[in-house]
Formats: sequence, C-alpha cells, structure tokens
Amino acid sequence: MYRSRLKGSLDKDVLGYLTSIEEDKSLLKYDILGSIAHVIMLYECKIIDREDAKAILLALNDAMNDEIESNNYEDIHEALEAYVIKHAKIEHGGKMHTARSRNDQVALDLRLLIRDEINIISKRVLELIHALLVKSKNTLDCIMPMYTHLQQAQIGLFSHYLLAYADMLFRDVERLDDCYARINRSPLGASAIGGTALPIDRNITARLLGFNSLVENSIDATSNRDFMLEFCFVLTSIMINLSRMAEDMIIWSSSEFGYIELPDELTSTSSIMPQKKNPCPLELLRARTASVIGDTLAIMATIKSLPTGYNRDLQDTKRINLQIIRRSKESIGIMKKVVDDLIPNKDKMQENAKKSYALALDIAEILVKDGKPFREAHKIVGSLVMIADSKRKSLYELSKEEINNEYLYNIIKNLDIKKAIDSRVSIGSSNRGEDERMIITRMKFLDSYNTKIEERSRIIEDAFKELEKRLHMIING
Ligand code: ARG
Repeated sequence: MYRSRLKGSLDKDVLGYLTSIEEDKSLLKYDILGSIAHVIMLYECKIIDREDAKAILLALNDAMNDEIESNNYEDIHEALEAYVIKHAKIEHGGKMHTARSRNDQVALDLRLLIRDEINIISKRVLELIHALLVKSKNTLDCIMPMYTHLQQAQIGLFSHYLLAYADMLFRDVERLDDCYARINRSPLGASAIGGTALPIDRNITARLLGFNSLVENSIDATSNRDFMLEFCFVLTSIMINLSRMAEDMIIWSSSEFGYIELPDELTSTSSIMPQKKNPCPLELLRARTASVIGDTLAIMATIKSLPTGYNRDLQDTKRINLQIIRRSKESIGIMKKVVDDLIPNKDKMQENAKKSYALALDIAEILVKDGKPFREAHKIVGSLVMIADSKRKSLYELSKEEINNEYLYNIIKNLDIKKAIDSRVSIGSSNRGEDERMIITRMKFLDSYNTKIEERSRIIEDAFKELEKRLHMIING
C-alpha cells in the first residue's frame, strides 16, 4: 500500500521476513483506539471535515469487532489503514494517516499496551504478596534454621522468610508504579521524527487516550524504547526474586531437607523411577527467568547502536517484549499456586533448628548481656561448637563434663529455641511479634496499592468511555 516510489510488490520471502503481523495482533485494539483519537483530533482541528471523520470512524468502529485481513501486510498499521480505506473509500479513508507516521503510531501502541500490562501485572504480584502474607500468618510458629552461604546461620521463623519476599515484591510493585508514570505519556503527533506542518493538537489526543502528558521532543518520542526497557527491567527483577524463591523451595522439598512438601498437582514424575516427585514448575520458573534476562538483554543489544531515529530493528523488540510479558505473567501465577498450596513440615524444620549450631549467636549474646565483650563471647561459643562438632553432638547433647564450665552449662540447659527467638528485639528481626506487626502493616500496603491500581485503571476506562462517546456523537450526528 505504501510503495509509491517502489516498483512492483515486495518479494514474498522478504515480506515473510519483514512482517510483524503475528505479534501485532496484540496491538490491534490499541491501534484502533489510537486511530480513533487521532481522527477526532484531526476533525476538531479542522484538518478533516465531518464527513471524512464520520466515514473513518464508522470503519474504525466496525474494525473493533471485525476480522481484519492481515495477510500480505508488513504490520497491523498497514492492515488497519487498508481496512479503513476499503470501508471508507479512498476519498475519506485515505485521510486517516494525515499528520501521523507508523513511527509515532507504534510507539503509541506500545505505551498503551504496556500501561495496561503494568496494571494487570501489578495486580498479580499483589495477589502473590497476599498469598505470602496469609501463609506467613499460618507459619508464625514454624521455627527453622536460616542460611547464609547455604550453611545454617541463625534460627528464625518460616513466616519471616515469606515476609522477606513479600517486601521484595512490594518494591517491584513500587518500581512498576514509578515506571507507569513515565510510560503514561503520549508520543502521538511526533510524526516520523520531526513533527508536522499541519495544525494538529497533540494535547487533544493525549487527553482522549487518558495520558498524563506528552513525550514532547519528536525525535525522543519516536526513537526511544527506554520505556519498554524500564518495564522489562522491573519484570526481570520480579523474575529474579521468584527464581530465588523457586531455588529455595526446590532445595527444601528434597528428601534431605524435607522442610516443605509440594502438593501432587504441582509436581511431575519420572517415566522410569516410580518414586519421583519432581518440582518441575519451579525448575521451569528458574529457566524462564533465564530467558527473561536473555530477552531483556536482547532488547538492550538491539537498541544500543541504533542511529537516532526510527530503525526497523525496533520492530523486533515488540515480539521479545511480548514474550517477556507472557513468561513473567505465567510465572507469577505459578508461584502464587505454590505459595498457596505448599505444606510446611514444621517438625522437620524445628528438629533441624534444634540440632544445628545456629544457636551459637544467641548464646554469645546471652554472654554479652552478662557483661562479656562480644569478641570474647564469640571465642567461648566457637570453642564450644568445636568440641560438640568433634563429638558429633548438638550443643544440647554436651554433658556438664564436656562443657566444663557450670555457667555455660546452665545457659545451654536453659536455652530453648522458642525463647531464643522471642528474645530478639531489633526492628525487623525474626521473631513472632515483629512478624505479626509486619503482616498487619503489609496488609495495609496491599490495600493502598490495590486502590491505586484501581484508580489508574478507572482513569483509563473513563478516558475510553469519553472517546467512545465522542466517536458516537460524530457517527450519529
Ligand atoms: N512495523 C514497524 C514496527 O513495528 C512500524 C513501522 C515503521 N516502519 C517504517 N518504515 N518506518 O516497529
């Protein structure tokens, strides 16, 4: 359709290589909405007349529910324009693309799509956080060893572990929120790269589409994909968080640890070993994180040496971005199921906590409270662990003679893992009181974020309702 200065039609194989029509199907809805806003603006600015606007808007309205012929087109923008020209005839339909380029159009569609996806994904992450908070409420009495270097470090609560991930994911929701503000700006009207001589009003289209403001500079508006990259960075951060959780859970569901059990519906088995119960969804989540990281890197690599201005390379970032979105959304849903349904084995965790030397710091801190300098306490307890380890015993199993110090012996005899945890007093430390407090505050955060997202979605819905109203006023007027 656009080949005015080119002879003949595009080579078939080249068309197959060039076309983005498959991934563009996700953009069709946004391309139609953007076109409606653009045409209303052209009419309001008296660039096209009412008859033109009416014919084009009628075609765009039909396009909403119609099958758009998309074979033989390089992209959805071309396919939609061809549809409009077919239905509104060239004398009207041929005016839809006035003062617009596919370069500002594709940037617009992507911003509209990502804006919706941020709201959908934020909601899903908040649902996962809710699952973590509910599970942590149910595991406030679940004492376990906590690990650094994957070696037993200090004892703590399983609820505290879950709350740590709730907080990490809250930060990702905050990041999505920040990113939303920068995405929610309209590039439309930037034209190919330098703007237009026609008297358009960019603020009208921005307002009609529910944007907060404009991406002003026409080069910036059409050239940049940093809005997409920023979104992908946040999805990568979410996936990395989920992948680390998956890794923990894979380890903890092994027979050696046995800290958690996954329900049968969330596990797979072996074709040959009848006993196997494999945490396959978690393993694939780990792998999908690798592909999200790789895909984000592919977008960065695509952009990094592009000359300024639109280049066709940018087209491929769309497909990659859609894949990142799909993989991330699925993974968030899988992790929610795992958190909802995992069964903690409190006895096994507690038994390991009790057997472990992870109480060493708690003992040293009792000595400190009794006036010993910490470095000396460290030495005393370290020597005690050395003795216990050489005898393959837990600290509790050491006899009075083996400890050879009445004061220390009494401390250990009276030491109880629950008491040790209850004696933690610092803000945010692993103890029941702090976890209970954090669950309450996080439940409130959850409410305020949900309200914020609903508010954002309502602004978009209201803008689109208004757009539809204006469209019907012109069609029926
Ligand atoms: N299909 C392209 C994309 O998805 C938009 C078209 C821009 N083409 C052009 N020749 N300027 O990025």
